Amino acid sequence: KMREIIHIQVGQCGNQIGTQFWESISKEHGIDKDGQHDGVNDVMLNRADVYWNKASKGRFVPRSVIVDLEPGTIDAVKGSEWGRIFNPSNFVFGASGAGNNWAKGHYTEGAEIADSVVDVIRQEAERSECLQGFQFVHSIGGGTGSGLGTLLLSKMMEEYPDRINMSFSVFPSTLVSDVVVEPYNAVFSIHSLLNNATEVFLLDNEALYRRCVQDLKIDTPSYRDLNGLVSRAMTGVTTSLRLPGQLNADLRKLATNLVPFPRLKFFIPGYAPLSANQRYENANLVKELFSPRNMLAACDPKRGVYLTCACIFRGKNLSMREIDHQLNALQNKESAYFVEWMPNNVKTAACDIPAPGEENQQSGTFIGNNTAVVDIFARLLGQYKMMYKKRAFAHWYHGEGMDDMEFAEAETNIEDMMTEYEVYTHNEEEEEEYEEEVSGDSY
Ligand code: GTP
Ligand code: MG
Repeated sequence: KMREIIHIQVGQCGNQIGTQFWESISKEHGIDKDGQHDGVNDVMLNRADVYWNKASKGRFVPRSVIVDLEPGTIDAVKGSEWGRIFNPSNFVFGASGAGNNWAKGHYTEGAEIADSVVDVIRQEAERSECLQGFQFVHSIGGGTGSGLGTLLLSKMMEEYPDRINMSFSVFPSTLVSDVVVEPYNAVFSIHSLLNNATEVFLLDNEALYRRCVQDLKIDTPSYRDLNGLVSRAMTGVTTSLRLPGQLNADLRKLATNLVPFPRLKFFIPGYAPLSANQRYENANLVKELFSPRNMLAACDPKRGVYLTCACIFRGKNLSMREIDHQLNALQNKESAYFVEWMPNNVKTAACDIPAPGEENQQSGTFIGNNTAVVDIFARLLGQYKMMYKKRAFAHWYHGEGMDDMEFAEAETNIEDMMTEYEVYTHNEEEEEEYEEEVSGDSY
C-alpha cells in the first residue's frame, strides 16, 4: 500500500533548502533530473511512492508544492539544475513578498493566495492512496515562510485533522541575519507550530553558523554552507521514511516514539560526520551523535534531559553490537540526562545502504527530544520582549490587523510550553553534581 507524504516548501529559505532536499534524495534514489530512474539498485524504488508520484513514461515527479509570495525565488527553483523535475502546476506564487512581516504572510498578502495553494495540496491528497501527512519546509524569521507557512499548516490541520503535520523549521539567529523583527516573526510562528504541528525539526541558524565556523573552519559561512548541513540532516532524518526498515517507518510512528506529550515536539536534529574530513565508526559514531558539536540546534543537551531519542546509523560493516554497547555505556554513565520513567526511550536503527556521498564510510543521524530546547525559545522570546516592551515595530503588525491580545497570547503559549519542558528537567541537586561536565562543553 502506498503511504504518501506531501512536501510543501514556502518562502526563500524553504525553497532553497527544499529544492536541495529533492536534489539530494533524488540522487540517492537513482532518479535523474528528468525524473527517470537511472539507478542500479531497485531497492531504492521500493518506497519511492512516499515522496514521488509516478507519471506517464515511468517518470517520477516529486510530490512537492512550491510556494512564495515573490516570483523571484520560484523562478530560481524553476531555473535551477533540478528545476524541471517538479510538476509545473505545483508552483504557486504572489506578486510581491511579505517584507519580513509575519502578519502580511499570515493575514493579508499570504491569505490571498492561501486558497490556491490549498487547491494544489488537495489535488495531491486526492491522488494519494493513503496519505500520511504533510512535510513543511520554511524559515520562521521572515514573512512568507513563517506567516504563510504557518497559515497553511493550520489549514491542513483543519482540513486533515487525522493526518500528521511535520515541519522543518529554520529558526533565526542574529549571527546570520540582521533583520530586527525576526524575533517577532519567530514568536508568532512558534505559537502557531505549537497549536498545529505534530512534530517539528528545529534547524537553528545559530547552531548551523557555529558548526560552520567552529567545526568546519569556514570564516564567513554563506547560506550555501549552512544549507549543506541542513541537507545532511534532512536526508538523514527522512531515511527511515524512505528506505526499508522497522523504526519510525512513517510520520505517525516517528511522532508516537518521539513525542511523549503533545506540546513537547521540538526535535534537535544532528548528524555525524558533518564534514567530509571526519570519519567515525560504530562506537565513535555514537559518541559523536550525542555531542553538541554535531547538533543543529543551539542548546547544550546537558542543561536538560532527554525525553526521547532516535539514532539512525548508515553504512557498511555496522556493528549493532558495538553501537548498542556504547549506547548503554553512555546512558549508564550519564543516566541523570535521560528521564528514568521512560524505559527504552533511546531507539536505534541500522541501514546498510550508505548515505549519499558517503559510500565509503558510516554515518549517523540523531533526533533528540531534549528539554534544553527551552534555551532556544528563551533566546528568541528574550529578544522579542526587549522590543515589545517599547512596542518597537509593533505598528507593522497592527497595520495588518493584529492586536496586542494576539501578542500576549503567543507569549503566554510559548511560556507555558517552556514551563512544561522545565517540569521534566532534572532537579537542582543533580544539576550541581554534573556542573563540572556541563561547563566543559561548548555548543
Ligand atoms: P519574506 O521574504 O519576508 O516575504 O519571507 P521569506 O519566507 O521569503 O523569508 P526568508 O525565508 O528569507 O526568511 C528569512 C529568515 O530565513 C532569516 O532568518 C534568514 O537568516 C533565514 N534564511 C533565508 N534563506 C536561508 C537559507 O537558504 N538557509 C538558511 N539556513 N536560512 C535562511
Ligand atoms: Mg522572501
